[in-house]
Amino acid sequence: MKKVMIIGAGGVGSVVAHKCAALPEVFGEIMLASRTLSKCDQIAATLGRTIQTAQVDADNIPELSHLIRSFQPELVMNLALPYQDLTIMEACLATGVNYLDTANYEPPDTAHFEYSHQWAYDERFRQAGLMALLGSGFDPGVTSVFCTHILKHHLDTIETIDIIDCNGGDHGQPFATNFNPEINIREVTAKGRYWQDGQWIETAPLSEKQQFELPEGLGNMNIYLMYHEELESLARFIPGLKRARFWMSFSDNYLKHLEVLGNVGMTRIDEVEFQGQKIIPLQFLKALLPDPASLGPLTKGKTCIGCRIWGHKDGLKKGFYIYNICDHEECYREVKSQAISYTTGVPAMIGAKQMLQGHWQGAGVFNMEQLDPDPFMHDLNLYGLPWKVVEL
Ligand SMILES: NC(=O)c1ccc[n+]([C@@H]2O[C@H](COP(=O)([O-])OP(=O)(O)OC[C@H]3O[C@@H](n4cnc5c(N)ncnc54)[C@H](OP(=O)(O)O)[C@@H]3O)[C@@H](O)[C@H]2O)c1
Repeated sequence: MKKVMIIGAGGVGSVVAHKCAALPEVFGEIMLASRTLSKCDQIAATLGRTIQTAQVDADNIPELSHLIRSFQPELVMNLALPYQDLTIMEACLATGVNYLDTANYEPPDTAHFEYSHQWAYDERFRQAGLMALLGSGFDPGVTSVFCTHILKHHLDTIETIDIIDCNGGDHGQPFATNFNPEINIREVTAKGRYWQDGQWIETAPLSEKQQFELPEGLGNMNIYLMYHEELESLARFIPGLKRARFWMSFSDNYLKHLEVLGNVGMTRIDEVEFQGQKIIPLQFLKALLPDPASLGPLTKGKTCIGCRIWGHKDGLKKGFYIYNICDHEECYREVKSQAISYTTGVPAMIGAKQMLQGHWQGAGVFNMEQLDPDPFMHDLNLYGLPWKVVEL
C-alpha cells in the first residue's frame, strides 16, 4: 500500500486529492494536510473514499517533519505555495521521504524565481537516496514533457520552442485570477525574459505581443511574452536549443485592470504602513479578489496550452505543434474545479504515479526534461488531458 501526503488544500490540492483518490491501486492511503484543517475536511467530504486530513504549517520544518513521521508516506506532494518549497524539501530530507512540486521556489520578498535554490539540494537528495521531482504541473511540467516527446519521437534536434498558454475561459467577474492571485500577479507583472543563443534577453513586462490562431476553431487570441520557469530547465536540458520563449494570453479587460492596480500601487510586494499596521498591498488585494476556487462553477470556455517546436529530422527542417485543449465546465463536472487547477493537478498526480510505480526513479533533484516522456504522455491521455501533435 503506497501512501502519499498532499500538502495544500487550495485549487490544485483539491484536484490532486480527487485524482489520487480515484486511483486506490496506486495511491493506497492519502493524507491531505494544509494550514486550514476545515479546507482539507471540506475536500475530503467530496471524495469517493476516506482519506486522512491534518492541520500543518509547512513553513515550520519540525512541525511538518513530525506529521510526516507519524503518517510515513512514500511521497510528499507539495501543492502549497512556492514559498514553502524549501521547508518541505528540508522536512522530506529529515524524514527520508521523496518530494514532488509544481512551482519553483520564490523568496516572498522578491518577485523572482529560479531553480538555483532547489537545484542546490541535488547532492543532499542523492546522498539520502531520495528523489525530488520539480515542476510536475502543466507549465512547468507537461510543456517540458511535450518537448522531450517531440525530441524522442519526431526530431533529431530541437532548435526553437515557443510555449503558448491560452485561456479562452470566461468567469463573468470584472477581475479575478485563475489561480492564487498573489502568485499570478507577481508572475504577470515581472519582466519578460527568453533564451536566445546561449543568453537571456530581458523585455519590459508584457511589451511583446502577437496574435495566435488557436487550433480546432477556437479563434484568435492576443498572446504576450513572459518569463516562465520551464525556460530555465529547457535551456539546461535540451541540447543545442537556440531559442525558447513563453507566451500567455490575456484579455484586454484583464490587462486594463492590472495596469490600473499597478499604477495605484496595489500590486506592490513591499510593506506599507496603514493605520498603524504594516500591510503588503498585493496580499491585501488578494483578500479582496474572488477566491480562484469560487470561479469553478462560473467558468465557461476552454484552455489550450501547447508548444510550437522547430528542429531537424534526417537533415530536414521540421516543425510540430503539440497541445492539449481542456474544457472548464467538464473539469468542474468531474472534480469541482475549473481547468486551470485541473491542468495543474492532473500532471501532479501523473508525476507522482510515475514515481510510485517506479517508471521515474532516481536519487537527486530532477526536472521533467530528465525523465522518459512515454509513460507520462500515455497517462495524460488516460487521466483527462489528451494531447495532439500536428506537423507545421
Ligand atoms: N505548474 C503549473 O502549471 C501551475 C499552475 C498553477 C499553479 N501552480 C502552483 O500550484 C500551487 C498551488 O496553487 P493553488 O492555485 O492551488 O493555490 P491556492 O489555492 O492559494 O492554495 C494554496 C494552499 O496552500 C496552503 N498553504 C499556504 N501556505 C501554507 C503553509 N505555510 N502551510 C500549509 N499550507 C499552506 C493554503 O492554505 P490556506 O488555504 O489555509 O491558506 C492553500 O490551501 C502553487 O505553488 C502554484 O504556483 C502551478
